[in-house]
Amino acid sequence: MAFKFSSLFALVAVAATVRAAPASTTATCSDGTQVPDEVCCNFVPVCLLVSALQNTLFMGDCGEDGHEVIRLTFHDAIAISQSQGPAAGRGADGSMLIFPTVEPSFAANAGIGDSVNNLIPFLSQFPNVTAGDLIQFAGTVALSNCPGAPQLEFLAGRPNATAPAVDGLIPEPQDNVTSILDRFADAGGFSPFEVISLLASHSIARADKVDPTIDAAPFDSTPFVFDTQVFLEVLLKGVGFPGTPNNTGEVASPLPLTVGSDTGELRLQSDFALARDSRTACFWQGFVNQQEFMASSFQAAMSKMTILGHNRADLIDCSAVVPVPKPAVNKPASFPATTGPQDLELSCTTSQFPTLTADSGSQETVIPHCSDGNMTCNTVQFTGPAID
Ligand code: HEM
Ligand SMILES: *[C@@H]1O[C@H](CO)[C@@H](O)[C@H](O)[C@H]1NC(C)=O
Ligand SMILES: *[C@@H]1O[C@H](CO)[C@@H](O)[C@H](O)[C@H]1NC(C)=O
Ligand SMILES: *[C@@H]1O[C@H](CO)[C@@H](O)[C@H](O)[C@H]1NC(C)=O
Ligand SMILES: *[C@@H]1O[C@H](CO)[C@@H](O)[C@H](O)[C@H]1NC(C)=O
Ligand SMILES: *[C@@H]1O[C@H](CO)[C@@H](O)[C@H](O)[C@H]1NC(C)=O
Repeated sequence: MAFKFSSLFALVAVAATVRAAPASTTATCSDGTQVPDEVCCNFVPVCLLVSALQNTLFMGDCGEDGHEVIRLTFHDAIAISQSQGPAAGRGADGSMLIFPTVEPSFAANAGIGDSVNNLIPFLSQFPNVTAGDLIQFAGTVALSNCPGAPQLEFLAGRPNATAPAVDGLIPEPQDNVTSILDRFADAGGFSPFEVISLLASHSIARADKVDPTIDAAPFDSTPFVFDTQVFLEVLLKGVGFPGTPNNTGEVASPLPLTVGSDTGELRLQSDFALARDSRTACFWQGFVNQQEFMASSFQAAMSKMTILGHNRADLIDCSAVVPVPKPAVNKPASFPATTGPQDLELSCTTSQFPTLTADSGSQETVIPHCSDGNMTCNTVQFTGPAID
């Protein structure tokens, strides 16, 4: 999430790329789009939800409003526990939107309220779409705006939540590796490899609740691109903080230079620890400069995460209406200017680190605050019941 400088409600025409209908279709929506099942018509882009989301919320950009919704897909879904039973939470059920004053107020959900308030208006606009489906579908649309992201699977049919989840189910950056891995295993049987795969999302992530004095501090130098830089940069020696030092859940980053609203890189303690722990370090390192492997691994782990609390067989595959993501930038991973192989802190002993080039320059490069390079970005914030 980000500090909101302007509440722009621009009706720009955004080209929503729509995947061609699949080979075998069994239903035709009112706008002519062919889909595998008529349930999918609720999500059909040219007439409905994709264009509404793109034109009034995401603006076709891999910016803050999209990043926030992608984080929301995780925080809604992970609130489930095999050990505590269904009363603790029912996973990807939209409880965040149905009970917007409960879960968004939990400390671990700090900052999630903006995305909750931004999606609530779409519930009344699209009454046949449930809250759980809306969150996960909006996440697939948001991600499609990020170059290099995979086209996520989207299954429809999550019933509306009937109760909020309990507190304590969302991993926090100050948690140790054992407790993070245990939480993911308890939520949905995720393996350590799947946990690291899901963290590819941090390639487009930024924080402003970890250090509330700075706005949208990125986790890597390319926060508007779904690339492998985050896996490289988290392995580099930390040298400083983009804002105030040593906040809870934060450790020193390799690129802390902040200039105006162009905020330096912030490193989560959890990312730091997962990149170096013997249980996960080789998986972490294994994604460096492996764009397609990272994207496909993320896609596979998201297929599991986005249906937590549901049986796959009860849902209907509407992936045909998910927009095709913007293509990858195809720039190999590289050491940001001022860093190099000498700064790597490697603990994976079973595979060799790839050979990468280093960006030239004796000065640290400023990371732009907005995807268009500007220092103030157009973001959308609808008012609503959830607290920020
Ligand atoms: C080890 C587990 C994880 C921890 C401890 C963690 C922690 C965090 C924290 C502290 C932030 C910054 C929030 C703020 O200050 O505004 C953040 C941002 C984010 N996280 Fe995670 N996260 C984890 C896993 C995930 C997963 C599995 C996803 C998958 C979808 C995800 C997606 C995101 C996104 C997209 C953002 C950026 C939000 C924005 O830019 O507004 N995270 N995460
Ligand atoms: C789910 O709940 C929301 C919020 O109450 C409502 O707007 C929507 O119509 C419900 N969807 C379905 C399919 O019942
Ligand atoms: C919602 O579902 C009902 C019942 O299936 C249907 O009659 C109605 O046309 C649908 N509304 C929209 C906007 O699709
Ligand atoms: C990890 O955190 C848990 C929960 O706070 C704690 O019980 C455990 O002792 C910690 N483990 C280590 C190795 O620090
Ligand atoms: C931050 O914490 C580290 C580790 O405890 C400590 O060495 C360092 O001095 C702290 N930095 C600042 C600026 O307080
Ligand atoms: C960003 O800055 C450029 C150059 O200053 C300007 O032309 C453009 O309109 C700005 N874009 C936005 C969205 O403000």
